[in-house]
Amino acid sequence: MKVLVTGGAGFVGSHACKALALSGHEPVVYDNLSRGHRDAARFGPLEIGDTADKTRVREVLERHRPDAVMHFAAFAAVGESVENPLLYYRNNVTGSAGLLEAVTEFGPLPFVFSSTCATYGVPDQVPIGEDHPQRPINPYGFSKLFVERMLADLGASHRLPWVALRYFNAAGSDPDGEIGERHDPETHLIPLVLEAARGGAPIQIFGTDYDTPDGTCIRDYVHVMDIADAHLRALDYLIAGGASGAFNLANERGHSVKEVIAAAERVCGRTVPVKIGARRAGDPPALVGTAARARAVLGWTPTRSGLDVQIADAWTWLRSRNR
Ligand code: UFG
Repeated sequence: MKVLVTGGAGFVGSHACKALALSGHEPVVYDNLSRGHRDAARFGPLEIGDTADKTRVREVLERHRPDAVMHFAAFAAVGESVENPLLYYRNNVTGSAGLLEAVTEFGPLPFVFSSTCATYGVPDQVPIGEDHPQRPINPYGFSKLFVERMLADLGASHRLPWVALRYFNAAGSDPDGEIGERHDPETHLIPLVLEAARGGAPIQIFGTDYDTPDGTCIRDYVHVMDIADAHLRALDYLIAGGASGAFNLANERGHSVKEVIAAAERVCGRTVPVKIGARRAGDPPALVGTAARARAVLGWTPTRSGLDVQIADAWTWLRSRNR
């Protein structure tokens, strides 16, 4: 299959492209390179453009005639979304609307969307299942929820077949070290902890007064290659006529910020310098998911999502870049 991959030069998108290519598919990357990296788009052709630019999307669809779409292109930093909400609504919501307009006119093509557990907000209970109410507490979460809503509406109005994959915290890197996590500026915990382990700035813990066992936030970290694998499964599922809907991608285990730091010290054999800071706005205390639906319906089983493996792969990537 030929698959149009928006945001295919970004972190999760580039890993999905690698997984597609390894499975004999052809990813066509559509990316404006505002945050993605040209050299990460190495598994198929690269078309530069904005998702909001419907005419350009249409031109790329006509040129490549893909069988399906995977939509990753989005800004994904919770803190930034709180500081600059319109950036998120414009890029994530308006951008998705342009893309979806072009895709429904052209197709409609099976559509796999990169969604997030940030659409749930502060959970009533953990683990969080897909039927948990979606009440985001930051603009990033809202922006992704609005796109889920668009998909549901387009499913009804235009018979668009769609799957929304709600990832918990994507982490790790391609174990071959070919591609990896590279945000600029980096805001994510694991890469920053590893930078600190390498002698960079100390990692600042955002809040030690949460209602969690050690006072720091708990997240459910999932390996990016496992996430990429789920996208391929979602695609096969839709092509086989599976019903549209949402699936959590979670490892079903929560780790606190302090546990992540301790794991990094163990894996890297180095001390991680730490600074205690204030809470970051928009952070729920604990997010842990259940992926029972993805396991049962998509046959998805995470294989690299143990915390130490994710940290080890991220560590390999970080060191390979700085040799
Ligand atoms: N954290 C720190 N110090 C840092 C960076 C992060 O203590 O320097 C803490 C955060 O407060 C949070 C945890 O580490 O509790 C993880 O933070 P990340 O920034 O790595 O990830 P987020 O949980 O904020 O967000 C990520 C993705 C989102 C996704 C979300 C789902 O960026 O796209 O996971 O939980 F929606």
